[in-house]
Amino acid sequence: MCLMNTYQRLPLKLVRGKGCWVWDENGNKYLDAVAGIATCSLGHSHRKLIKVLNKQLRKIQHVSNLFSIPEQEDLAQWLVNKSCADRVFFCNSGAEANEAAIKLARKYAHIKKGVENPIILSAKSSFHGRTLAALSATGQKKYHKNFEPLVPGFEFFSFNNPQSFNALQKKLEKDLPRISAVLIEPIQGEGGIFPGDKAFFHLLRDFCTKHKVLLIFDEVQSGMGRTGKLWAYEHLQIEPDAFTLAKGLGGGHAIGALLVKECANLFEPGDHASTFGGNPFACKAALTVAKEIESENFLDNINSRGAQTREGLEKIINDHPNHFKEVRGFGLMQGLVIKEESYLNSQDLTKEAIKEGLLTIGAGPKVIRLVPPLIIRKKEVSQLLYRLAKSIESLI
Ligand SMILES: Cc1ncc(COP(=O)(O)O)c(C=O)c1O
Repeated sequence: MCLMNTYQRLPLKLVRGKGCWVWDENGNKYLDAVAGIATCSLGHSHRKLIKVLNKQLRKIQHVSNLFSIPEQEDLAQWLVNKSCADRVFFCNSGAEANEAAIKLARKYAHIKKGVENPIILSAKSSFHGRTLAALSATGQKKYHKNFEPLVPGFEFFSFNNPQSFNALQKKLEKDLPRISAVLIEPIQGEGGIFPGDKAFFHLLRDFCTKHKVLLIFDEVQSGMGRTGKLWAYEHLQIEPDAFTLAKGLGGGHAIGALLVKECANLFEPGDHASTFGGNPFACKAALTVAKEIESENFLDNINSRGAQTREGLEKIINDHPNHFKEVRGFGLMQGLVIKEESYLNSQDLTKEAIKEGLLTIGAGPKVIRLVPPLIIRKKEVSQLLYRLAKSIESLI
């Protein structure tokens, strides 16, 4: 085994996929409610993706950002047309998109606020990625351990908690002009599927507007229809000044993006770059996802299947009130929350579900996260719920 020991892998070799289903090397079939962790938005081996990408491979796969890339311009145009943003920078992953956002926030502070050592505010229990600045912005100590010293300039408040945010403002009273941005997920994913509270996010929006602070949303997991709206910020009825995307954007192909409103022109040639970022192949994949999302009933299906999932999960809670507490989430980003006092945990349940032919993932030890492909059908959601209930029953 020559791979570094970075993942606690499950004992499954997945070798093939079609739609919402994947097969292991022994031919066993699994319903995939992980979808590459909210990434394979069109499922596996999607007919149109295959056709478009085959064609693209024969046309051109990669050119440097030294040249104009029409596929990149088309994708940026689509993203700008469909969102509050004016400009886009492309990269390859969520962490990289957040790195770009952090750099933009720092340049904003230097140029617009005349600040030498800016501060970015971020939420506790957040997750922004594993590169060093994104890790430093992540409000979970377990990810920091052994990687200190972290990148300086991040301060944390409790998610959805106005008292905590006000207390942080008070603590930073003398340093208020140094605050360049608030970086936050509109719905926390890895931290446990916590949807943002509308009133709290309006407070953040007002604070940012008043103090000329950038409000940056990390929509790496929640963007591109995952929550039943194209962008999760629509649920909150506010607009960020910038937001990041990755995961579902390329339907399983590596692409990330930073989308920015007014201060998009802060970045100048030489400020930021990515060799692979926005290559024709990845952009064509994302354009195919975009076209599918635009098709009739696509978002409606996410909402209907999300409601069906929630209803099924609520039934599981009713059937096992000693073990489960609540369902959190929107659309096809749902979490079934296990009670603290229950001996159940997401890891054991994930393993048991495999025996029932279902792939799930935890969001922390006490949340079972369901993020299937966005194309999932009614009878597949029924299967998902049936298999999940069976695996729970085997453990209790
Ligand atoms: C909200 C959020 N931001 C950033 C990331 C990091 O993305 P990537 O793994 O593509 O670097 C993730 C990954 O789970 C995420 O959920």
